[in-house]
Amino acid sequence: MTDILSNESKTNEENSKRESVNLDEHNKPQTEEHASVVAAHYNHIEEKGLDERFNSPIFYLRNFNNWVKSVLIKEFIDKLREKDYGRSLKVLDICCGKGGDLGKWKKCRVDRVVFADIAKVSVQQCQTRYEDLRRRNDRLFNAEFIAADCTKDTLRDKYADPSIKFDVVSCQFGLHYSFESLVQARRMLTNISECLKPDGFFFGTIPNAYEIISRAQKSKAYSFGNRIYSIKLLFDPNQGYPLFGAKYDFHLEGVVDCPEFLVNFEVFVKLAAQYGLELVYKAKFSDFYQQYAEKHKQLLHRIICLETYPAPPGKKLIGDESDYEHVQAAYDEKSARNKQIGTMSACEWDVATIYMAFAFKKLKHVCDSNGKPVYITKNKSRDNNTN
Ligand SMILES: C[S@@+](CC[C@H](N)C(=O)[O-])C[C@H]1O[C@@H](n2cnc3c(N)ncnc32)[C@H](O)[C@@H]1O
Repeated sequence: MTDILSNESKTNEENSKRESVNLDEHNKPQTEEHASVVAAHYNHIEEKGLDERFNSPIFYLRNFNNWVKSVLIKEFIDKLREKDYGRSLKVLDICCGKGGDLGKWKKCRVDRVVFADIAKVSVQQCQTRYEDLRRRNDRLFNAEFIAADCTKDTLRDKYADPSIKFDVVSCQFGLHYSFESLVQARRMLTNISECLKPDGFFFGTIPNAYEIISRAQKSKAYSFGNRIYSIKLLFDPNQGYPLFGAKYDFHLEGVVDCPEFLVNFEVFVKLAAQYGLELVYKAKFSDFYQQYAEKHKQLLHRIICLETYPAPPGKKLIGDESDYEHVQAAYDEKSARNKQIGTMSACEWDVATIYMAFAFKKLKHVCDSNGKPVYITKNKSRDNNTN
């Protein structure tokens, strides 16, 4: 790992030569194929009507994921506002999809959001949703929309104002696509970091590679899941885990059905440090829930993240009875007067707990005699050449 990541003391030209040597050793050759599979997959997901969403077998899981994103966004925007309440905030929503977080940015009263995603149709839908919202809200943030492969293209060249400086970069459920290769992960991190202000935050959510590997190791043929999701490793772990290009098939009922890549978190943190990004927070979704459920319980209820057990009269549980064994003891202990529990079916929780949240802070820097940034950590200066 050190060998792959410690090449920054070379010039850019040397770096790219050396990276390609390392890539030849560690990765399959890059193809356009994977990017187009991902783009086509997301472009073809139809927008669901309200009825369909209510009847979805992942209704609570979706809402829970939205709760995690809302809380993460709010917590870090609040940190920025603690320092300067009135400041105007600019955001890059990278891998934005159809704009699932538009409402969250509105709620946080940010000033400008740049939305970027590889899937053209999704970006158009995001823009349409934004324009609909704007018609109803004069004071909505300004926005721009970019269809681009964020693991290959230079986003800065595509911004309306290439000198824009973001306060926040958010990448929700998307960063893992860049772990196809080291070159792509680097391009993604360059896009994330190069226009992020010092002390600004980069945060997001990804599948937790440790969790996936640990479930895979307990499974047959490195394939596991339940009635709403399945994961199958597409490499042989007996040959070791590639740092990049560790591909797996992911299927999640009605939402995802395409190959993804494991993010080795240790590598991610070391690589991010080279772009002046210092890890300030990480939590598995299960721990995130423990940490914030009480503080953000109103939102948890308002967006209906928890299912009522047992089902109220006239309603059906989303899962089978066996999906609720975990609440049985708590239910039995409850007094007869208030025998209702907010929970999530075991099948949905199994998916939720695959994910983790993270946040990085952009370090301040000075330039060395060659004009290269040297990032300043609390205790020492960190040359971006070291890891
Ligand atoms: C699971 S969706 C998440 C969408 C959105 N962030 C959300 O939370 O609702 C993942 C998104 O990543 C996008 N994506 C995948 N590879 C990408 C790439 N190379 N460049 C830009 N976007 C990419 C997909 O098109 C898709 O919209």
